[in-house]
Amino acid sequence: MKIAPSILDADFNNLAQELDSIKNADLIHLDIMDGQYVPNLSFGKAVLKNINFPIPTEAHLMVLNPENFVDDFVELGVKTLIFHIEATGVPRALKLLQLIKSRGISAGISVDGYSDPDWLTDEILDLADQILVMSVKSGFGGQQFMPVSILKIQDLRDRGFKGIIEVDGGVNDENIQDLAEAGADIAVVGSFLLKKSREKRAEIIEKLRNS
Ligand code: DX5
Ligand code: ZN
Repeated sequence: MKIAPSILDADFNNLAQELDSIKNADLIHLDIMDGQYVPNLSFGKAVLKNINFPIPTEAHLMVLNPENFVDDFVELGVKTLIFHIEATGVPRALKLLQLIKSRGISAGISVDGYSDPDWLTDEILDLADQILVMSVKSGFGGQQFMPVSILKIQDLRDRGFKGIIEVDGGVNDENIQDLAEAGADIAVVGSFLLKKSREKRAEIIEKLRNS
């Protein structure tokens, strides 16, 4: 399992040390919120462009109009750009997946914690490089894991999805093995990791990775 720490709950007063403490992870997960798709705000290009990330990044757009942010995140150099099917619906999602891929980065689509994975049609599964299965209602870190997400991951594999499956929300050392067995490739880890002291994080990442 690859490990992608979310820096949503990082200590931004000491960001360089925070990033240093998680640099043995596989990638950094950037949670982008617009206060419309979710009732919360986070950060965007103006903040992120001044940060030196020690490992590759991906952006999880929890925004109503993800089309508006493609250029920003391509310029920032993210490896993967993920948006929500609930924000776009199917026809817009198909166009946006194509647009993201045409910019030379991986295209990801997310299904929210309370959403039916059938939102993701076979056409979407054919086009998406990555599917992000939320295991909480998007918007805030530190929520409780929804076990139904394990079934959603299995269902996507049963439907023949061969791309990358990522899981996000409430992931910890108790549920990560079930998620890996269900077919997840990447686990986003926020509060479980960031609540621990910096000295302990590298070892926790290693343990989670080998679960
Ligand atoms: C929620 C975000 C998640 C979250 C992860 O909207 O997409 O990335 O902050 O944090 P934990 O692991 O605390 O749920
Ligand atoms: Zn996220």
